[in-house]
Amino acid sequence: MNCELAPSILSFDLTDLRGSIKTLVENGVSVIHLDVMDGQFVPPITFGDSYVKRLRPTVEALFEAHLMIQSPERQFEAFKAAGCGRIIFHAEATAHSYRLAQTLKSMGVQAGVAINPGTPVEVIEPILDILDLVLVMTVNPGWGGQSFLAPMLEKTARLRAMRPDLHIEVDGGVDPTTLPAARAAGANVFVVGSHLANAESLSESVQEMIRLCG
Ligand code: DX5
Ligand code: ZN
Repeated sequence: MNCELAPSILSFDLTDLRGSIKTLVENGVSVIHLDVMDGQFVPPITFGDSYVKRLRPTVEALFEAHLMIQSPERQFEAFKAAGCGRIIFHAEATAHSYRLAQTLKSMGVQAGVAINPGTPVEVIEPILDILDLVLVMTVNPGWGGQSFLAPMLEKTARLRAMRPDLHIEVDGGVDPTTLPAARAAGANVFVVGSHLANAESLSESVQEMIRLCG
């Protein structure tokens, strides 16, 4: 599977993103990860579709929305209209993950399902065939800057054994020390937030992470 580096904008200055995103894309980034939080599924609130819509025209990259929200299906159309080509909802946020994944596919967007650290892969095993991507949370969702949870590597490896052709994404605590282990376990999409936002040189840091993807 091709490696994708998916920088999360969460830890960047959300009022002044254009320069950072330009640097990311110029250095080879093709996916931007958008962390949407509703104050219910997770305590913080971030931004909604109107923010994404305003960002969209300036960026040539796939937008993926990571919906950390209750009733995610209520937002599918809005985030598609805002320019997201991949929409990821949480298995824990719905009793109807199969139907919601079908809905995304029928809308013509890539369908992804995320699982929290405490959720076993068995929860999504029956729906893997209709998904484009599984996101394995490697921290508890809600905040950037947390430490990578190494036990999630086993879940990643089990998913990769089940589905060699699926995008498997890891999200949380990914940096130059944890990316290689996640890659070895079978992940091929890597969300990186605070490591890039705190970098002294954003372009050098992105290049290093893309090199580590292999
Ligand atoms: C956490 C978010 C992540 C977060 C990652 O709930 O889903 O995407 O921004 O940030 P870092 O890389 O700092 O762990
Ligand atoms: Zn995320």
